[in-house]
Amino acid sequence: MFNQRVKIKQLLSGTDSASAVGSEVVVMGWVRTFRNNQFIALNDGSTNNNVQVVASLGEFDDALLKRVTTGASLKVKGIVVESQGKGQTVEVKATSIEILGDSDAEKYPLQPKKHSLEFLREKAHLRFRTNTFGSVFRIRHSLAFAVHQFFNERGFLYLHTPIITSSDAEGAGEMFRVTTLPLEGAPKNDKGEIDFSQDFFGKSTNLTVSGQLEGELGAMAFSDIYTFGPTFRAENSNTTRHLAEFWMIEPEVAFNDLEDNMNLAEDFIKYLIAYVMKHNADDLAFLDTRLAEEEKQLPTEKRSGLGLVEKLKFVLENGFERITYTEAIDILLNSNHYKKKKFQYDVKWGIDLQSEHERFLVEQHFKKPVIVTNYPAAIKAFYMRMNDGCEPGKETVAAMDILAPGIGEIVGGSQREERLEKLEARMNAMHIPLEEMSYYLDTRRFGSVPHAGFGLGFERMVQFVTGMTNIRDVIAFARTPNNCEY
Ligand code: 4AD
Ligand code: MG
Repeated sequence: MFNQRVKIKQLLSGTDSASAVGSEVVVMGWVRTFRNNQFIALNDGSTNNNVQVVASLGEFDDALLKRVTTGASLKVKGIVVESQGKGQTVEVKATSIEILGDSDAEKYPLQPKKHSLEFLREKAHLRFRTNTFGSVFRIRHSLAFAVHQFFNERGFLYLHTPIITSSDAEGAGEMFRVTTLPLEGAPKNDKGEIDFSQDFFGKSTNLTVSGQLEGELGAMAFSDIYTFGPTFRAENSNTTRHLAEFWMIEPEVAFNDLEDNMNLAEDFIKYLIAYVMKHNADDLAFLDTRLAEEEKQLPTEKRSGLGLVEKLKFVLENGFERITYTEAIDILLNSNHYKKKKFQYDVKWGIDLQSEHERFLVEQHFKKPVIVTNYPAAIKAFYMRMNDGCEPGKETVAAMDILAPGIGEIVGGSQREERLEKLEARMNAMHIPLEEMSYYLDTRRFGSVPHAGFGLGFERMVQFVTGMTNIRDVIAFARTPNNCEY
């Protein structure tokens, strides 16, 4: 058996009896730095803290030591000793060092110095080996685990909804087509259009933009379900918050109304934050320091004021502000920002809130997460529940978006239209073919119940918790317009 190593996190924790001072251990990992031909900082990805391996002078061949370069991989056998240096409690006094894989120092792209995030994006296959990405991806992992734990504790069923679908759940038309038809000479029908009846599935198909519609079908039997999977949007937005392939968590709950839905979403976000604060304290502390250093470079007015951990604590300890869309518009219209014409996009009842409006509400006005409810029906998807008693021309739906500081929209959700006639009327008005959605309408025909759900953008949540400002830095291999490496 080759793998008898102790993980570096475990070794450094000081709580592991097999690696107590005086024990013989095996550690394996990648060299971060090698100082004075004696001190090797070794990292295995279990933590940002490297173990210091001491290769005492004169005990190892020069030829071997020359191969201990940044990026090389080692198997080290040695004795755990109390550390002389500062910053660590124990280190490993090497008795044998084996090079598992050399790394040519001239060619290895990661130097033992700070690289820009832009540079590292081009080296996404190696960036996991840096402290920043080590912390980000360990936190991403924890968040994913906490998602399942949260719902499992509450008796939700994890429903795997399809990746390939024939419906456009959001009705926004931003879909990637899935086809096996040839690009040239595709079969045509009588009308001269491409004949998808000859395609693989016998119809036109695409990658899913959301698992919600299928999720609703599950909720109509299991009461509480959630999905957690990749979703795809062919929107041509080159921003720090949009990906063409992102992960979304979508709970759907029978018997919930809009308020229940908001409560669930707020509890969920707080649970995720609390989980990471408890289980990833080291990584958060690292990112907190990193962010503080980055902020020092910014002009004062652009600084967030709170440190990362302080911000997360604040979010945990305070209720999210809840306002209606109409109230949000009033706040914007009455703001000095508006009066001084500082918004690029106009503000009036009926507009879709732009990112600058969302950020104003969250970062300037309330300075905390905000849930905006009851949006105009005209700017929201067909499945949202019509509010009763609206003024004509001012119809609203029972929608809710959660806006987070530094991110903007992190959650989008609603109570669903459970009344068959109203749903059909809305779909007709929006030119959504009823026949194709007959399966969906069945849930309203047979035992319809009030229900609600939402989608949390997983990468935006990872951004929020890690303080990373670009969404490309919280997913392993980002897919954005004109970019699909790896
Ligand atoms: O607001 P959206 O479009 O809502 C839905 O898809 C609903 N079906 C959800 C539901 O009610 N079950 O997307 C939900 C969230 C957004 O709030 C945002 O956090 C994230 O998904 N999101 C994106 N994240 C990264 N890149 C993109 N292009 C995103 N588009 C949406
Ligand atoms: Mg949305």
